[in-house]
Amino acid sequence: MIMTASAQIGVTGLAVMGRNLARNFARNGCTVALHNRTEARTRELVAEFGDEGAFVPTTSAREFVAALRRPRCLMVMVKAGGPTDAVIEEFAELVEPGDVIVDGGNAHFEDTRRREAALRERGIHFVGTGISGGEEGALLGPSIMPGGSAESYQALGPLLERIAARAPDGTPCTAHMGPDGAGHFVKMVHNGIEYADMQLIAEAYDLLRKVAGLAPAEIADVFRSWNEGRLDSYLIEITAQVLTHTDADTGRPFVDVVADRAEQKGTGRWTVQTALDLGVPVPGIAQAVFARSQSGHTALREAAASLPGPHQDAGAARPAVSARLPEAEKARFAEQIEQSLYASKVISYAQGWDMLRAGSAEYGWDIELSSVAAVWRAGCIIRAALLDRIRAAFAERPGLPTLLADPEFGGELGRAQEAWRDTVATAARHGVPTPGMSGALAYYDGLRADRLPAALTQAQRDYFGAHTYQRTDREGTYHTRWGGDRRETRTD
Ligand code: 6PG
Repeated sequence: MIMTASAQIGVTGLAVMGRNLARNFARNGCTVALHNRTEARTRELVAEFGDEGAFVPTTSAREFVAALRRPRCLMVMVKAGGPTDAVIEEFAELVEPGDVIVDGGNAHFEDTRRREAALRERGIHFVGTGISGGEEGALLGPSIMPGGSAESYQALGPLLERIAARAPDGTPCTAHMGPDGAGHFVKMVHNGIEYADMQLIAEAYDLLRKVAGLAPAEIADVFRSWNEGRLDSYLIEITAQVLTHTDADTGRPFVDVVADRAEQKGTGRWTVQTALDLGVPVPGIAQAVFARSQSGHTALREAAASLPGPHQDAGAARPAVSARLPEAEKARFAEQIEQSLYASKVISYAQGWDMLRAGSAEYGWDIELSSVAAVWRAGCIIRAALLDRIRAAFAERPGLPTLLADPEFGGELGRAQEAWRDTVATAARHGVPTPGMSGALAYYDGLRADRLPAALTQAQRDYFGAHTYQRTDREGTYHTRWGGDRRETRTD
């Protein structure tokens, strides 16, 4: 069939995310070319949602490309990894120089850099874009983080701006993140922060449940109240929803019938692996990834189940979890946890921005740190009130060495630290694991410390490995002859 090139955008891969993006484009006035390996899915979309806007269903890759106006913009919405390469190659054969192929999956940014370089050789723009907000976001307005060439954004950007979520000030939550893999890198960091955020919320829930002895529905009320304040965010909001939910089969709180083994598709892991390569400490994200892994190690947990906890002798029966706080202290404890949760959240976001800065420097992306906060203000999973303040902090001081150096955030942490310390201490005394909150506090104290025990580490390394050290009182690199006369020699 001869196709008229009428579509501004095309979507290939019409599973839920692809389908909802296509609908979002159509609802926002775009003519949308559709393609799916299984043609039935294309037909179903038009049959069910054809009245939402202008769709151009196609039955082959060739027809799909022919339906697109030049410069063609086509979004590949297929499973990350092998399938993406195959689909990209299929369309790269059909498009022309100047056209734009967009990968909207959660691809690893190094794969995106490789793909972008290869297609650039052929004059084709390849854009890896993060799309955050799940299925609902794809339909109603996601946060979109495109990488790729500045030229590709000239064609693609206006289309993405039509469908993106809107920040409270009305601006679309999308912007060009930077060249080649910058977009997928930013999405990866978003997911790393998401993991850290979710871990901290889990710890706050665990403390309210096990130490304060609140029921899920009562904890939901606490989260709802927190969502009215500085913790206002999507993840806090849905936590209250989840904790209010009752399991239909058993009538028990839903959270109590869910297996306590957290899974992970891998984006949080990628963030930590990349942070290790970049030399950026992101303990908040790392602890969240490891906490998920630990929860899944059933054999380990069963083997350790009889280990004694606080006030419990080895081998004694595990005491029933009971409210350990007097009623009058519960509200104050909840207030304390709010401070600890907020402070730890700020630390995790600070670590995320350290990643963005380091990645941008390493790969020459020149990522605008305030712009990332701006596009995360709505539509994405980590959307939160504090993101506009992070945007403002980096807009005012693009060279801010760490978010914690911003006077407002630094001041908040200072005011929260007593409650934060008490919360971590209470958790330790009650045997409740809080790797996120305690790790965040250790990170805060590590950054503040005027002297770190790393001096001892350096001395040890020089002792057993002659790895040398520097001194506080003079320039140069030194080694001490530990096995001999212990004389110090300068080695540089
Ligand atoms: C988003 C989500 C999305 C996905 C996460 C969670 O931004 O819309 O982050 O990308 O739901 O990757 O998956 P895991 O928790 O399994 O990594």
